[in-house]
Amino acid sequence: MIILGIETSCDDTAAAVLRGGTEIVSNVISSQEAYHAKYGGIVPEIASRRHQENIIPVITEALDRAGITLDAVDGIAVTRGPGLIGSLLVGINVAKAIAWSRGLPLVGINHLEGHVLAPHLAGPVPVPNVTLVVSGGHTSLYHVTAIGSYALLGCTRDDAAGEAFDKVAKMLGLGYPGGVVIDRLAAQGDTEAIRFPRPMLNEDSHEFSFSGLKTAVRTYIAGCGAEALTGESLHNLAASFQEAVVDILVEKTIRAAHQAGVEAVAVSGGVACNSRLRLRITERSAREGLDVFLPPPVLCTDNAAMIALAGFHRIARGVPFPYDLNATSRLPL
Ligand code: KG4
Ligand code: ZN
Repeated sequence: MIILGIETSCDDTAAAVLRGGTEIVSNVISSQEAYHAKYGGIVPEIASRRHQENIIPVITEALDRAGITLDAVDGIAVTRGPGLIGSLLVGINVAKAIAWSRGLPLVGINHLEGHVLAPHLAGPVPVPNVTLVVSGGHTSLYHVTAIGSYALLGCTRDDAAGEAFDKVAKMLGLGYPGGVVIDRLAAQGDTEAIRFPRPMLNEDSHEFSFSGLKTAVRTYIAGCGAEALTGESLHNLAASFQEAVVDILVEKTIRAAHQAGVEAVAVSGGVACNSRLRLRITERSAREGLDVFLPPPVLCTDNAAMIALAGFHRIARGVPFPYDLNATSRLPL
C-alpha cells in the first residue's frame, strides 16, 4: 500500500510517500523559517499563505522523487490538528480534493500520533514503550500500548521544552528557532556554571513545567545584561540552561518507563534533535537496562512521513474519515 502523507500544521509544508508502512520513498519538507525569523516566532497569517504557495509544488516533488504519479497512490493521510487553523486547512483542503477526485481513502491524523510513531520509521520499535514527544508546541509522555493506543501519562502545564529553548534564544538575541543555536553554543560551555532550577523534577508526577526555568534565565540575563553575555559566559549560560531542560526530560522519561513497566523508551519531536538530550538519554537508558529509540533528526522535526505512517495503520484498519474532515486547533491524543 502506498500512502501520500501531507503535513501543514505549523510552519513547514511537507509531503511524503510511504510504501508498505515501512519504506519512506520520498520525504519533502519546505521550511518557512526564513520568513518568520525576523518576527522572532511564527506569524500564523504568513504561515498559511506560504503553505498555499508551497503545497502543490511540495506534493509534486514528493511524487516525482518517489518516481510515481497519483495513479499509484492508495490512500491520503493529512494532519487534522493540533496546530494553526489557517495552516491545517491548506493541507486538509488539498488532501480532500485529491482524495475526492481520485476516489481514494482519506484519513485525518493527529499530529501528535505522527510524532509518537516517527521512531518506528527508523526501524522496529518494541511496543509497549514510553514515548516522549518534545517539540516547540508539546512536551508529553505517552504509554504506547499498541499502534493506535496511546495513554497520556503527563504533559507540560505551561511552556513546551522547545518553546523554552526558543524564548531563551530570543532573550539572547540569537534568532528563531533557537533550539539548534543553543545546542551549538552549549557544546562549548560548562553545564555546571549556573545552577538553574529544575521545576517539578522531584515531584511524583509525569507533568512538566518550564516557565519557571525560563523566568530564572530571564532574571539571570537581566542581572548581567544580555550584551555582557558573549564568548565563554554565553556558552556557559546555554550549557547550564540546556542541562536543566535535559535533566528534567531524561529523569521523567526514565521514571515513567519504570512505572509503566516497559523495557523501551523513544523520543520524538524537534527537541529530540538536541545533541545533549540524545547523549544523556542514551547513556542513562543503558544504565537502567532500557532500550532507547531516537529517530534521525529529519524525522524528529515536523515531517509528512510520520503522518503517512499513522495513516497507513488507520487505513489498514479500515477507518477512513468522511469528507467533512475539518481542522482542529486543540486536539489531544
Ligand atoms: O517538532 P517541531 O519541528 O515542531 C513542532 O511541532 O513544534 O519542533 C520545533 C522545535 C523548536 O522549538 C526548536 O527550537 C526545537 O524543536 N529544536 C531544538 C533543536 N532542534 C530543534 N531544540 C533543542 N535542540 C535542538 N538541536
Ligand atoms: Zn510537531
